[in-house]
Parts: sequence; C-alpha cells; structure tokens
Amino acid sequence: MGVVERVLFFMAFAVLCVSSMAEVYKVGDDIGWDAIGVEFGMEFYKDWSSSRAFKIGDSIVFEYEPQLHNVVQVTHENYKKCNASSPIKIFTSGNDTIPIKTNGHFYYICGVPTHCEMYEQKVDIRVVTRVTPTQLSATTVASSSNPAPSPSSAVTISN
Ligand SMILES: *[C@@H]1O[C@H](CO)[C@@H](O)[C@H](O)[C@H]1NC(C)=O
Ligand SMILES: *[C@@H]1O[C@H](CO)[C@@H](O)[C@H](O)[C@H]1NC(C)=O
Repeated sequence: MGVVERVLFFMAFAVLCVSSMAEVYKVGDDIGWDAIGVEFGMEFYKDWSSSRAFKIGDSIVFEYEPQLHNVVQVTHENYKKCNASSPIKIFTSGNDTIPIKTNGHFYYICGVPTHCEMYEQKVDIRVVTRVTPTQLSATTVASSSNPAPSPSSAVTISN
C-alpha cells in the first residue's frame, strides 16, 4: 500500500470505530425522569425511546428527584399493568446509570403510585444490535476490564 492508501485506510477505520462507540442516553433528555405525562403528552417516553437506536455497550441514565420517583425494572406484563409489586430490579439513587449488555426489551416504570398508571412514567428500551466483530470485541474488553457497577446499590445495606 502507498502512503495515501494507508492514510485513507486508517481514516476509514477510525470512522468505523467512532460509529460503534458507546452512547449514554439520558432518559427524557433535559426533562429527565418525571411524571410529566399530561404536560408533555402521554406518549412522551414512548416517543423518546422509539426514536433512539440503543445498542449493546450503550447506557441509559435515569435522573430524577429520589424523594419523588424511583425506577423499577419489570416484565412486559407488569409494564403494561404498571405493576411494580414484583420488580426485577429497583433503582432509587436519582442518578441511575444502567449499562445495556444484551439485546432485548427492557421495561422500566416509576413505582410511586399513580405515576405509571396516570402519567405514563414508563419507558421501554428495545435493543436490537447487529453485533459486528469490532463491537463484539469492544464489548468483551469493556465487560472484562470494567465490571459493571452494582445498579442496586440503594438496596444494598452494607458493602
Ligand atoms: C402484580 O404482579 C404480581 C406478580 O406478578 C401479582 O402477584 C399481582 O397480582 C399483580 N397485581 C396486579 C394488581 O395485577
Ligand atoms: C449523575 O452521575 C454522573 C456520573 O456518574 C454525573 O456526571 C452527573 O453530573 C450526575 N448528575 C446529577 C444530576 O447528579
């Protein structure tokens, strides 16, 4: 390869790497995680998540007043019913970062009574990543060198 080809090859490689970089998505953007259904439209979080392409390696962040809200991961069935009584995970810090590690559908609701049922404080994160070899190795490296922080620190009594 000549110098020009090498440079072009390197640039193409760099672009590829950047396009597969991990994103951090703040749920609701500037509004954050709030019972704003009526004010911003009942489908606010649905619209927010459906217009984003989540992939493995990304993270979602819930920011809210911990005295007023929480984040409860539930099954699809309990998401539809706004039933927070058998959570998969509960987050209560007010600044909860949740890494996306697998493809699939992840359902989060606010467990404070009425917030999900009446204000649609619920979000569904759909992850459909076409994993390329680059992403796969990046994910593997990230998860082995950097164990995910325990998201359930709020329910951990001691450490
Ligand atoms: C909520 O879910 C739990 C476990 O799935 C179930 O036992 C309970 O009956 C549900 N409550 C309502 C109101 O649907
Ligand atoms: C939430 O945490 C991140 C890093 O963990 C930090 O950069 C950010 O400022 C925090 N936000 C708030 C509102 O505390």
